Amino acid sequence: MKAPEQAKAEVARRRTFAIISHPDAGKTTLTEKLLLFGGAIQMAGAIRARKASRHAVSDWMKMEQERGISVTTSVMSFEFPIPGRPEDAPDFERLANVNLLDTPGHADFGEDTYRVLTAVDSALMVIDGAKGVESRTEKLIEICRMRDTPVITFVNKFDRECKNPLELLDEIEDKLGIPCVPWTWPVGMGKGFKGVYHLVERELHVFKPSDEGTIAAGIPVEGIDDPKLDELLGEEAVEELREAVELLEGAGVEYDREEFLAGKQTPLLFGSAMNNFGVRELLRAFVSLAPAPQERQAVVGKAAVEAPKPGDPVETRMVDADEAAFSGFVFKIQANMDPKHRDRMAFLRICSGRFSRGMKAHHVRLGRDVAMGNALAFLARSRELVEEAWPGDIIGIPNHGTIKIGDTFSEGKKLRFTGIPSFAPELFRRVILKTPLKAKQLAKGLRQLSEEGAIQVFKPLLGATWVVGAVGQLQLEVMKHRLEDEYSVVAIYEPVEYSMARWITPDLEHHDKVTLDKVMANFKRKCEENLYVDGHDDLVYLAPNKWNLSKTAERFPELKFEATREHS
Ligand code: G4P
Repeated sequence: MKAPEQAKAEVARRRTFAIISHPDAGKTTLTEKLLLFGGAIQMAGAIRARKASRHAVSDWMKMEQERGISVTTSVMSFEFPIPGRPEDAPDFERLANVNLLDTPGHADFGEDTYRVLTAVDSALMVIDGAKGVESRTEKLIEICRMRDTPVITFVNKFDRECKNPLELLDEIEDKLGIPCVPWTWPVGMGKGFKGVYHLVERELHVFKPSDEGTIAAGIPVEGIDDPKLDELLGEEAVEELREAVELLEGAGVEYDREEFLAGKQTPLLFGSAMNNFGVRELLRAFVSLAPAPQERQAVVGKAAVEAPKPGDPVETRMVDADEAAFSGFVFKIQANMDPKHRDRMAFLRICSGRFSRGMKAHHVRLGRDVAMGNALAFLARSRELVEEAWPGDIIGIPNHGTIKIGDTFSEGKKLRFTGIPSFAPELFRRVILKTPLKAKQLAKGLRQLSEEGAIQVFKPLLGATWVVGAVGQLQLEVMKHRLEDEYSVVAIYEPVEYSMARWITPDLEHHDKVTLDKVMANFKRKCEENLYVDGHDDLVYLAPNKWNLSKTAERFPELKFEATREHS
C-alpha cells in the first residue's frame, strides 16, 4: 500500500474518546469491561486500584507515584473489530484502533477532565439508571458542547430498580438538551430485568448475571413482532416492549449522522456494566458510529508564533487529519513520579500526519526544532518508545518543564491549535508563607504547578500575596502536599472572599482602541482590589459573588468578562 493510502486507512480506523459521568455511575466498571473486550486485561486491574486510592491525598499520591498508575492509565489503547467488515480483510480495515483517554478518577480534578475532552473526537456518557442525569454530567456535557463533540450514551445498572426508560430518555433531552436515539431498549429492570432488545440489529440479548469477559451472542429475531420474542420473554414483558417500541417509532427521533456528529443527538444503549451486559453491544455501536479524527482549527501565519496584539488580524485554517505533515498539541502535563528529578510528561494528541521515531518537529511557541526520539506510546500493557503513530493517537513527551499545556508541535508549516482552554476556578485561597525566606521557592513552585495545569495562580496588581484557584478541593490539597514535598514550602492557605474568576479582555469588535485604553485605565483604578494577573500575565477579575460580577460587567460594557481562557 502507498504511503498516503496507508495514512488514510490508519486515520479512518482511529477512535479517540473519553468517558464522562457523575461519580459512582459506573465509569470505572465500564472502563474495565471495555478493556477486557479489547484484550487489555492487565490495565483493567490498574483502573480499579487507582480508584480504590481516592481517600487520603497523601496516600493517593504515593500510590500513584509508586505504581506509575497515573501515567499508564492516562491513555488506554486497544483494537476491536468494526462490525460488518469481512473477517479476512487486513487488520487496518477490519479493526478499529481505540484510544480511551482517562479522566481523573476524582471529581475534584474537573479542570483536567475538561482539557482531556479537548483532545477526543467523541465521548461516552454513562448514566446511572436509578439516578438519571446528575450535576457533574450536566457540566461535562457543557464542555462537550463547546466543541460539538458527538456523544454516545450508556444507561447503566439496569440490574437494579431504575427510572422508567422513557422517563430517562425525556430527562436526558430536557436536562442536557440532546435528543436521544434509542439503539437498544431494556426489557424490565431490577429483579425483573430480562435483557435488551437491539432496535437496529433486531436481536434480543437475554440477561444473565455474569462478571466474565465472555457473553452469549444475541438471538436474532424478525423484528419486534416475531413470536420468538413471546417465547423468550413471556407475555407481559413482550407486550411492554412492543408498546415502548411502537411509541419510539411513532414519536422518537431518527438517527441522523450529521446531527450526531454535531453533538445534536445521542444514540442510547442500556445495560449493566457490572454484569458485563450490554457492553459488547455498546462497543460495537461505538466503533461503528464514533467518528475518526476530524479536522481541527489552527491559527497560522504570524499569529501562530507571536501572540497577536489587540486588533491584529488572526489568520486561521482547518488542519485535516489526512494532511501529510505531522502536527499535534499538548493537552495535559503530568509531573514525574520521582520528585528528585523534575521530569514531566507532556501528553500530545496527534492531529495530522505520521509520527515516526526518528523525526524532528517544530515546537512552535519556542521556535525550536526538537528531536522526538524519546516519545512514548501507551500500549495496553506498558509504555514503550513509540515507533510510529497516527492522528488520534496520544504520545507522551518527557521534558524538564519546557513544554506547556496548549503547545503545538508541527512539521513544516508553523501553526498553533486553538481551543485548549483554562476554566475559571471556583475555589480560592490566599497563600501566606510561614517563613518569608521561602518567597522565591513559592513563586517557582506555583509557577511550575500552574504550568502543569495542576492549579491556577493569581498575583494581585496591588500587593504581593498570591491567590491560588482550583476547580475542586482535592486539587488544593494536592497543591499543598506538593509544595511541601517538592519545594519545601510550608504555607497557610487562608480562605478568601472570592468565588468567581473572569478573564478580562477589551471588546475590540465594538469599540475603538483609544476608548478602550481609557476604559481599561479607569477599570484598573476603580477595581484595583479585585484585579490580578494569572500565570500567563493575563488580567483577571476575582469576584466575591455573582451579583458583584454582573454589576461590574454592567459598569464596563466595553470589556469582556470571560469564564474560559485559551492557552496560547
Ligand atoms: P465510577 O467510576 O463512575 O465512580 O463508578 P464505579 O464503576 O466505581 O461504580 C460505582 C459503584 O456502582 C460500584 O459499587 C460498582 O460496583 C457499582 N456498579 C457499577 N456498575 C453496576 C451495574 O451495572 N449494576 C450495579 N448494580 N452496580 C454497578 P461500590 O459498592 O461502590 O464499589 P465496589 O465495592 O463494587 O467496587
